[in-house]
Amino acid sequence: MLNLAILISGRGSNMEAILRSIEEGQITNVRPKVVVSNRSESPGLKLAAQKFGVPTHVLCKGNDKTLSFEDELVQVLDQFGIDPKTGVICLAGFMRILSPIIVQKYTMRILNVHPSLLPAFPGLHAQRQALEYGAKISGCTIHFVDTGVDTGPILIQRAVTIFDNDTEESLTQRILEIEHILYPEALRVFSEGKLKIDGRRVSITDSKTKNRNEKA
Ligand code: GAR
Repeated sequence: MLNLAILISGRGSNMEAILRSIEEGQITNVRPKVVVSNRSESPGLKLAAQKFGVPTHVLCKGNDKTLSFEDELVQVLDQFGIDPKTGVICLAGFMRILSPIIVQKYTMRILNVHPSLLPAFPGLHAQRQALEYGAKISGCTIHFVDTGVDTGPILIQRAVTIFDNDTEESLTQRILEIEHILYPEALRVFSEGKLKIDGRRVSITDSKTKNRNEKA
């Protein structure tokens, strides 16, 4: 069993997709231990506690004046048994950059979802960036977190067509629907050890997950 922490900043729909996949038994060897938010008003906190019974923690700088944000996060992860060698951390709309200390402590054990086909359009407002650039295709990426911004090794990606009449909202919505499929899937293959990692190249050694860009 892998102990899981999910870090959010807002709505938490990706968190919900992950917790539902665990609850419904699509992911069998991951135990959600804590949902952490850096914003006390994140709707995802209530969802985690009330719908899924997962403990929550609000991480606001200043909770404990003697601890920095990062120190407090490390303490919470320790407290909930998220071991750097056997645990897993999913960033799900967590709008804060983790310090190199945390990223290095949990090397290749922190996953993130990003609403573009990385390395295109990293950072904030990825869907707006894609539209303003005039891209015809965007999509979603699940990747490992390294010390850069949205630069870690890519685990899984899927493309979404951009239509001429798309708005930021419509594109965001279509990408989000794919995120909700891909993120639980990425966590499942990770938790089952069905990954071959060679430098930046991550391949999924599981027949159930097809790379849609491959010919059958
Ligand atoms: C998602 O679209 C996710 O891809 C994006 O924030 C949204 C969170 O929604 N993340 C980023 O842009 C990270 N750079 P959610 O709170 O409903 O999961």
